Amino acid sequence: MNCVLLGYGTVGKNVEKQVQALSGLDMRAVYVRPAKAKEPYFTPRGEEIVSSSDTDIVFECLNGLEPANTLIRTALEHGKHVVSSNKAVLSTYLPEYIELANKYGGSIQIEASVGGGIPLIDGILKLSDAEELKGFEGILNGTCNYILSSMENSGAF
Ligand SMILES: NC(=O)c1ccc[n+]([C@@H]2O[C@H](COP(=O)([O-])OP(=O)(O)OC[C@H]3O[C@@H](n4cnc5c(N)ncnc54)[C@H](OP(=O)(O)O)[C@@H]3O)[C@@H](O)[C@H]2O)c1
Repeated sequence: MNCVLLGYGTVGKNVEKQVQALSGLDMRAVYVRPAKAKEPYFTPRGEEIVSSSDTDIVFECLNGLEPANTLIRTALEHGKHVVSSNKAVLSTYLPEYIELANKYGGSIQIEASVGGGIPLIDGILKLSDAEELKGFEGILNGTCNYILSSMENSGAF
C-alpha cells in the first residue's frame, strides 16, 4: 500500500522509519513547508498528495489545526485511510471526520494521538461495542507512572 506523511518533526520522522522497516508499505511523499521541499519526495503540495489516486494511507503528524484539518478532510473526502497523532485537530473535529470516513469509505485512526506507546483507545472503543463501560482508572502515561512510583518509593505520600 502507498502512504504519504504530513509533517516531518519528532513523530513524523519516526513514522517514516517505521514505515521503511515494514514490508508492504511504501512511503511516497512527505509534506513539508515550501522552503524545506526538495521535490519530489519532500513536497509542499499537501492537497495533491492526500487526494492522489496513488495514495492509500495518510499519516498526519502536523501540529495545530491548520493545515492539518483541511488536509485530513481532503484525504477523507477521497476515501483515504487517515492516521493522525494530532490531538488538537482530533479533539476539535473527530465526529466530523468519522462522518466523512463513513460517507466516503475511508477511516480515521486516532490511537497515536494520546499515549501513542500505550495501545488503549482502540481497546476501549472495541470493548464499548460489546460492553457498557461504566468507567476505568489507572496511570495511563509512562512519565506520570515513573514520577508517582518514585514518590511512593521515597515515602513522599
Ligand atoms: N511528540 C510526541 O511524543 C507526541 C505524542 C503524541 C502526539 N503528538 C502529536 O503529534 C503531532 C506532531 O508532534 P511532534 O512532536 O512531531 O511535533 P513537531 O516536532 O513540532 O512536528 C510538527 C511538524 O509539523 C510541521 N508543520 C507544521 N505546520 C506546517 C505547515 N503549515 N506546513 C508544513 N509542515 C508543517 C512542522 O514543520 P516546521 O518544523 O517547519 O514548523 C514539524 O515538522 C502534534 O500534533 C503532537 O501533539 C506528539
